[in-house]
Amino acid sequence: MKKLLCAAVAVVLVAGTVFAAPGADSKGAAGKAAFIGIAMPETHVLRWTKDGASLKKFAEAKGFQAQDQYANADQSVQNTQVQNFLTQGAKAIIIGCVNDGVAAVVAEAARDKVTVIAYDRIIPNSADYDYYITFNNFKVGQFQGQGIEKGLNLKSATAANPKYITLFAGSPTDGNAFFFYDGAMSVLNPYIKSGALVVIGPYPETSKDTANFQRIATENWQAPVAKTRMENLLNADAKDVTLDAVLAPNDTLARAIIEACKADAKYAGKLPIITGQDAEAASTASIKNGEQYMTVFKDTTKLAEAAILLAEAAVKGTTPNIPGAVLASSIGLESIGDTGRKVVKAYLLDPVIIYRENWRDPVNAGFYSQDEIAQNGLR
Ligand code: BGC
Repeated sequence: MKKLLCAAVAVVLVAGTVFAAPGADSKGAAGKAAFIGIAMPETHVLRWTKDGASLKKFAEAKGFQAQDQYANADQSVQNTQVQNFLTQGAKAIIIGCVNDGVAAVVAEAARDKVTVIAYDRIIPNSADYDYYITFNNFKVGQFQGQGIEKGLNLKSATAANPKYITLFAGSPTDGNAFFFYDGAMSVLNPYIKSGALVVIGPYPETSKDTANFQRIATENWQAPVAKTRMENLLNADAKDVTLDAVLAPNDTLARAIIEACKADAKYAGKLPIITGQDAEAASTASIKNGEQYMTVFKDTTKLAEAAILLAEAAVKGTTPNIPGAVLASSIGLESIGDTGRKVVKAYLLDPVIIYRENWRDPVNAGFYSQDEIAQNGLR
């Protein structure tokens, strides 16, 4: 009996921590602050811990209760986290998914009339949610392609004196990886066709070439996977050439690829042009120091703020007004919101291209903590 009582008290206390804080305009049915669950995919790519913290901060500033959880790139872990949010009576759940296995718990949320917002990554194969907020991911890829075009001066390159590139893509479980790749290849394919740019290793012309895409993809965006693939390439397909560029889909993988190159005497004096994405502090430092060539700054603080505005509108039943975002449908990019089962309303924010000359942009935008600035020499 005593045990039972303790358990009951514990449940009340736990529930209390979730629902008891005051919230002026974000009340649930019982007049308590409504609860927003935040389910982020992983922590091995730094951005997600920042995303989770920003989402929580903005939710609380709007008078919601909020909790952030991270799934360690394991969909079953994420599904349990989402189910726990439902048990706790969440009114909205913001999900940066690991893969399409999340659709099962999104269906449970829909049955409970809980709003789900796909955050940064689309939730594929689901017709059980209405909103998606992300960046213009095709443009992110275009920026990477343009980085290589600029870094290699491709406009002046010829088939008689070609440049050599090898291609990497993100995780095949992440819908964004396809947009990034296709955006980049929309810039690079004409040079490959003319012979001015020669691909070493597999060459999917677009992400629709599934077999070749799989060969260049990096499961769950794991840096060690990209590093090993780069080492293998350097010892095999790329053994007899000097690579001028590597298409790397994000900063975490770019730095792993740089490590592999640095261990090869051929690149000791001059690294290939290597792209990236996320403006991670370590990569911005690498750009500043002339190693990584470029990155794409996606101000995820703004993304988090926009996601909370969407959640708030959904919880209150009002029409969302998301400053700084465009609807994908208004710029002909409906496919960004296509889950395969339904086209959801996709709101897009704009990414910014970062080279050595403007490495300070993310610093000036307040994107880094003081610790990150100090530890990476970004003053
Ligand atoms: C995000 C990127 C991130 C990658 C790996 C993608 O879905 O858009 O910003 O680098 O996942 O976590």
